[in-house]
Amino acid sequence: MIFGRVKPLDAILATAEKKSLHRSLGALQLTLLGVGAIIGTGIFVLTSEAAQKAGPGMMISFIIAGAVCAVAALCYSELASMVPVSGSAYTYTYAVMGELLAWLVGWALVLEYAVAASAVSVGWSGYFVGQMRGWFGVELPFELVNGPFAGGIINLPAVVIALLITALLVRGTTESARVNAVLVAIKVTALTAFIILALPVMKMENFQPFLPLGWASGDGAGVIGAAASIFFAYVGFDAVSTAAEETKNPQRNVPLGLLGSLAICTIFYMLVAAGAIGSPLGSQPVMSAMGEWLAPGSTGLADRCKELAGMGQEPLSCSKEALAHVLREIGYLNFGNLIGLAAFLALPSVILVMIYGQTRMFFVMSRDGLLPERLSNVHPKWKTPHIITCITGVGVTLAAAFLPVGKLADIANAGTLFAFCAVAIAVVLLRRKEPTRHRPFRTPALWLVAPATLIGCVVLYWRLPFDAKMVLPIWGGVGLLLYFAYGYRKSHLGRGLIEVHETDRDAPPQPVPPLPDL
Ligand code: ALA
Repeated sequence: MIFGRVKPLDAILATAEKKSLHRSLGALQLTLLGVGAIIGTGIFVLTSEAAQKAGPGMMISFIIAGAVCAVAALCYSELASMVPVSGSAYTYTYAVMGELLAWLVGWALVLEYAVAASAVSVGWSGYFVGQMRGWFGVELPFELVNGPFAGGIINLPAVVIALLITALLVRGTTESARVNAVLVAIKVTALTAFIILALPVMKMENFQPFLPLGWASGDGAGVIGAAASIFFAYVGFDAVSTAAEETKNPQRNVPLGLLGSLAICTIFYMLVAAGAIGSPLGSQPVMSAMGEWLAPGSTGLADRCKELAGMGQEPLSCSKEALAHVLREIGYLNFGNLIGLAAFLALPSVILVMIYGQTRMFFVMSRDGLLPERLSNVHPKWKTPHIITCITGVGVTLAAAFLPVGKLADIANAGTLFAFCAVAIAVVLLRRKEPTRHRPFRTPALWLVAPATLIGCVVLYWRLPFDAKMVLPIWGGVGLLLYFAYGYRKSHLGRGLIEVHETDRDAPPQPVPPLPDL
């Protein structure tokens, strides 16, 4: 009975108890932790994709995506505070819905972490190219800084940054809390500067038509489709829920931290979007010469953008460094370059956290016997899981080399939405199965919040572009084959081995959590 392979919660909790971290974080620290983990390629780059899908209506898209994340966050928090061990959604699912579904969730999380790392690498590449142009006047060869979908051959800067971060992780470089605090400050300052510079010169007529593509039209166009893509801008908030075990008074502080960081980011994102919409560039979608809508990341849009560039125009939807481009168009050339510099400096830390998250996920799965244990061998000198890190790094690099940022973000979103659904179901099932178990944090109005999470995730998934939507079932099918070919037979649980690990830190050494110094 494959659905009967449920990992006993007590065994998982025994591992967690041995770990018992000091509860030191308050609501403010959690909020800052969340803001630091959330802001990245989504706002700095994908704003142009959102404009192409929804025009000025992208402001509503930011609210919708933020709201879906908020309800999912409340579900995450209950499980994270109850089952504070690594593996997040994978571990919760293992304890509640069994091994097969847990494997599928873990497998889907590869899309969240690894593919998101590729997306951020490509996003970084756009800013790198802009920096070379803006500060040094160097124009890098188009074919070498764009993948095939954008009319190029390979995205070399994305390859280089992905390999560089992988090398850093293999060498065991950990990001210090202080460096992270500086990077968070840089990102927040850059967005604040953008808002201060762009809002006063907003042209209100640029907000019309507000919904040029309606709520849902074309393959992922419209406000809901833009929300499905811009959802990427919020990915990463689970950093807050996984810090629940280190939080003072989690019942109060975890929801404050989660909802606070999501609310702050939503406000930032809306103001930034307003600034971009009201700028001389405007935010109306780029249409073909025949007046047809062109999907972001398509060769059709890339060709049209080239054509427009030939006429000396670069609309928002064509820009690969959206926020810097807006400021330059307003006339703030140097501020534009500085915003670009901020993204150039801060985005690599998002790549690091994502690749690291992926290796830790694989580590936990191989510790359960679902992946070969050899994969999580630790390097004798550097004490890092070098094999799994290299495999992850190569996968991230290949995807970054050839795929456009928007497609990668959409695929990452599909995996993340699937994991959110699993978490929403797991929290409800666990309430029924073990109603009396101690819950440091209880999701308020679960009967409302869990269905809202499920509905929100399904709607966003449904409005992803067709190809991104298809990746999830195909990826899941490959995962199933792998499970029955390997994990089913080798699973420790299946072989009757229920382990309690000395510490959850049997896992490889990890970067210091991205806590700002307060
Ligand atoms: N939310 C993160 C970003 O936008 C993943 O880069």
